[in-house]
Amino acid sequence: MHKGFYTLKWEGDSVSFIDQRKLPVEEIYVSCRTYKEVAEAIETMVVRGAPAIGVSAAYGIALGLIKSTDTEIYKYEAGFKEICDIIGATRPTAVNLFWAIERMKKAFAEIRGRTSSVSEISAHMLSEAHSIYDEDINVNKAIGRAGSSLVKSGMNILTHCNAGALCAAGYGTALGVVRAAFEQGKKIHVFADETRPFLQGARLTMWELMKDGIDCTLLSDNMSGYMMSKGKIDVIVVGADRIAANGDAANKIGTYSVAVLAKHHNIPMYFAAPLSTVDINCPSGGHIPIEERNLDEVRVINGKSICPPDAKAVNPSFDVTPNSLISGIITEKGIIYPPFESGIKSLFSGGDL
Ligand code: MRU
Repeated sequence: MHKGFYTLKWEGDSVSFIDQRKLPVEEIYVSCRTYKEVAEAIETMVVRGAPAIGVSAAYGIALGLIKSTDTEIYKYEAGFKEICDIIGATRPTAVNLFWAIERMKKAFAEIRGRTSSVSEISAHMLSEAHSIYDEDINVNKAIGRAGSSLVKSGMNILTHCNAGALCAAGYGTALGVVRAAFEQGKKIHVFADETRPFLQGARLTMWELMKDGIDCTLLSDNMSGYMMSKGKIDVIVVGADRIAANGDAANKIGTYSVAVLAKHHNIPMYFAAPLSTVDINCPSGGHIPIEERNLDEVRVINGKSICPPDAKAVNPSFDVTPNSLISGIITEKGIIYPPFESGIKSLFSGGDL
């Protein structure tokens, strides 16, 4: 599937994460023994990427319940609410976080209706977290299969940020499409935008593609327009953090610029994401909360200031690509083409595409 690493893993009484802040220089794992440590790992981007954040949240909640010292059910229930609140306050944009918390709340309500035993409830909640983990891998593989039909042998694929095995329980969304095409024996090549300021493309996408032997080349963020103008890019595939009901899609900052350039050069651009990334209650992109991160992510690289230390800066971590710039949304149920609103509605009401 992907070689020699895991993004996150349940370890019996802790959750272990590869520290994505340190890659590719150091491959080290961080062990979180409490739900607060899991919350901190999400907030500080030890683990990142929309599906991985959701799966981590589910394990964080299970961990918090298993370690709860409340034997009295009403205190245990109040503790559950607090755990959900603290984990839910970590990052605002990726809707998979809230999707996972809602799913864990539903599982809690369901088991609570059958028992008042805190140990039984904790066991049930851990098993729900395991299901979320397993499903995420299967969903990513299904996205890969669906999207691989768009990728022909000989194509050059541009991606932005990291939507790979590192952004999920495994396999990846946009890179799931790449992986599936590669596994089918297609001869493909990936251009990875470096993705300032956190450098997910340079540090993470290049690392995991190179580990799997998938041909790839790094671009700095300001090069993609030139590469498109020279006919070097055939298709663009990126991930998403939240897709509104009308198909507007939030993804890593810089995605919108790539989409505008792609439109100008008539290059198809696809967003690959599980249905857990679609926020059916969010009518359009303007309603998606955009995380603002610490300004030193922009001003400092590798501990060294790249501007006067008190320089003004901004750091919106995501932007929204309007549906008019999106060629299709690749999901585990197939590819949604414009008009997105009806396709999304159909999938959410149990229909087909
Ligand atoms: O800030 P990050 O690294 O969590 O942002 C990640 C992205 O924007 C990814 O492209 C997105 O989560 C899609 S990953 C399936």
